[in-house]
Amino acid sequence: MKITILTLFPEMYEGFLNTSMIKRIISKDLVEFKIVDIRDYSIDRYRHVDDTPYGGGAGMLMRVDVAHHAILDNATSKTRVLLTSPKGKKYTQEDAKRLVKEEEILILCGHYEGIDSRIEKYCDEMVSIGDYILTGGELASMVISDSIVRLIEESISPESLKEESFEDGLLEYPQYTRPVEYDGEEVPFVLTNGNHKEIRRFNLKNALKETLKYRPEMLEGRVFTPEEEKLLIEIQEESCEE
Ligand code: ADE
Repeated sequence: MKITILTLFPEMYEGFLNTSMIKRIISKDLVEFKIVDIRDYSIDRYRHVDDTPYGGGAGMLMRVDVAHHAILDNATSKTRVLLTSPKGKKYTQEDAKRLVKEEEILILCGHYEGIDSRIEKYCDEMVSIGDYILTGGELASMVISDSIVRLIEESISPESLKEESFEDGLLEYPQYTRPVEYDGEEVPFVLTNGNHKEIRRFNLKNALKETLKYRPEMLEGRVFTPEEEKLLIEIQEESCEE
């Protein structure tokens, strides 16, 4: 897969691309990143990319011609073109799962003061990473590409893939490592006794519990398996006893 990012701040990607999992996946040729400086498409010798808005208003807007040329030069007919914007549809794990199937993605990073609206015609979708305003789309583009890259099949171990399908649509269950007792808190005994069937059931029950407690809306419309139904009844009975 190829991910191209059009940005005014290419230096922001140095840490992102040279660290940990992303670096490992790039080195395995599972994903190719291309970071493009939008200023390379400036039409004047001062490398300007923005101009004052028609009708007045504060700040400068990125010019549509500059941004469009940058897209044209870096996309093909099979490229999915994304524009980061607080106006966009809120990005979710479902979007990451959909986008990982694309051969090529191009992310145009929005400018902190905005882009000439005519650019939207050349983008397939606008994406927001949350209801807050960032200074630019760079962090959003890293969030989006990070979530896609970690889904690239070979990049995650078969065990974690299995766990994910079991947990699909649920929050993660609490996990523990050594020491077995810390500050009076003990690791639940069932996790230490090696009975994999019991451990799986315990973890599924706790994933349901965590989701009910912190993100109950995630369970709306979920079709529960018979095992999950049973565990939910147990959870309900336990909460009545408390
Ligand atoms: N640019 C500024 N704020 C943003 C947001 N929340 N998501 C995506 N791009 C943005």
